[in-house]
Amino acid sequence: MAVERPIAPGKVKIDDLINEDDRLTKLIYSYLVSATAWLIFGSLVGLYLAIRFIYPDFGVAQWLSFGRLRPIHTNVVFWGWTSLAMIALALYVIPRTSQRPLFSIALARKALYVINASILIGVIYLFMGYNNGGQEYREFIWPAMMLFALGIISHTLNFYKTISLRGTKEIYISNWYILAAFLWTIVVVVIAYIPWYQNALGETVIQGYYMHMGVGMWFTPLVLGLTYYFLPLLLNKPIYSYSLGVLAFWTQMVFYSLIGAHHFVFAPIPWWLQTVAIVFSIGMVITLTAGTGNFLLTMKGSFRKVARSYSLPFILVGVIFYFLASAQGSLEALREFNQLWHFTNYTIAHSHLTMYGFVVFLIWGGIYALLPRLTGKEPSHLLIGIHFWFALLGLLIYGFALMIGGTMQGKSWIEGLPFIHSVELMIPYWIWRAVGGTFMFTSHIIFAYNLYKMKPLPHPHKQIDLAGEQI
Ligand code: HEM
Ligand code: HEM
Repeated sequence: MAVERPIAPGKVKIDDLINEDDRLTKLIYSYLVSATAWLIFGSLVGLYLAIRFIYPDFGVAQWLSFGRLRPIHTNVVFWGWTSLAMIALALYVIPRTSQRPLFSIALARKALYVINASILIGVIYLFMGYNNGGQEYREFIWPAMMLFALGIISHTLNFYKTISLRGTKEIYISNWYILAAFLWTIVVVVIAYIPWYQNALGETVIQGYYMHMGVGMWFTPLVLGLTYYFLPLLLNKPIYSYSLGVLAFWTQMVFYSLIGAHHFVFAPIPWWLQTVAIVFSIGMVITLTAGTGNFLLTMKGSFRKVARSYSLPFILVGVIFYFLASAQGSLEALREFNQLWHFTNYTIAHSHLTMYGFVVFLIWGGIYALLPRLTGKEPSHLLIGIHFWFALLGLLIYGFALMIGGTMQGKSWIEGLPFIHSVELMIPYWIWRAVGGTFMFTSHIIFAYNLYKMKPLPHPHKQIDLAGEQI
């Protein structure tokens, strides 16, 4: 008798709807709509830049120049897409784990306007050619970034108040990570935008600190905190070890804040500072092993559930990239490897493998876990599958092309060949990057459609009290 073998295991429909205050659901949805609009715009700019590497004359207007569009791409995907999407999920996770309603929905709504305004202003000024002095990831003019900081400060107050009024004795591990991310980011933005002590090489040291604290103390702890909530929720079992979570948390706080100088290995900044950064970059392997181990051990024995869920595969990919792509960073910090890879496209591969493979995949896992439960509306499982595979395939093509190309670029410089040689040898890899980018961009369009399909239904206003009863 012929056995039926489906290409992929059927996905289970969600049946555990969450009875939530409508105002919170709408708020979360508006954050996600803004975030997704920034994702589409930011990654369209990324794709255009990728194409410009193959056809440099494709668009010659000043506002289309590489120097203006590159920071637009990075700042938009950082502050517009990734940050707003993570805040959207935190708006649910913090009240839920604190067993308290969000301290102020109105404040969170205002913060969304403020953050959107900050990005819009920053982008318009970058298009016009105005920036904050050209330092990476802090190119937005300072008034725009101060608005962003205002939004972050409002959220910090809102979240802090919600947690301090919590109905539980312990603060759940997610909230350690999330609050830490907010507090560090205020510190980082203030340090980066206050100018007087940033002179000459001091500015370089601050830049290294800022760049890595941005990725390491904002995106990383925030998305890990969210995963500490969504993974156990989806598997319907507790996290494997609370202690491993705490170990990963404190080593992250201590080691990560010391490694910024690894961006400037061999630069004329103190040698000892570079060495400290390298040592703690290797130390980060402890953090990664504790964090990833904790997630994988939580999944152990439940891999059937992972295959049957449409959100868990995103989380599994995110967790794997968290380990592999960060460990890749530890290698890049070593002087032997940095000599080969620094300034090459290998770093661009690392940026996307971490920011996209780790952070963005975990965000998508969280969104697909939460929204259908909040709104009772699920997108087509097929479209979620296409979103998943296009994004993953695109990223793998992007990452491998630039890792191979970047290594050859570095070798050609070490061999002392003419610079143009390293440009010519990159052409096939840049073509592959554009192919990968096209898959990624297409997956974003599908995701936007899926988000639309999860739109909350307009129905009479519903508010929920602490016990989950409608009032
Ligand atoms: C369609 C998808 C995307 C494409 C085609 C794309 C393409 C690009 C290109 C061409 C650059 C400039 C590289 C250079 O200067 O040589 C870049 C830089 C960058 N992109 Fe993307 N990108 C995409 C999505 C994203 C997303 C979603 C994120 C983050 C969430 C991201 C984060 C970054 C970062 C951090 C850099 C700076 C890299 C570095 O300096 O090391 N990109 N991207
Ligand atoms: C163990 C953890 C990590 C270590 C040790 C590490 C190490 C490094 C090193 C050494 C570089 C500089 C490469 C060079 O310019 O020569 C780098 C660049 C970068 N890393 Fe990581 N990384 C880690 C994790 C992450 C994570 C989790 C993210 C994102 C969430 C990330 C995002 C980036 C970005 C965006 C850049 C490019 C910065 C630029 O524009 O120059 N890294 N990383």
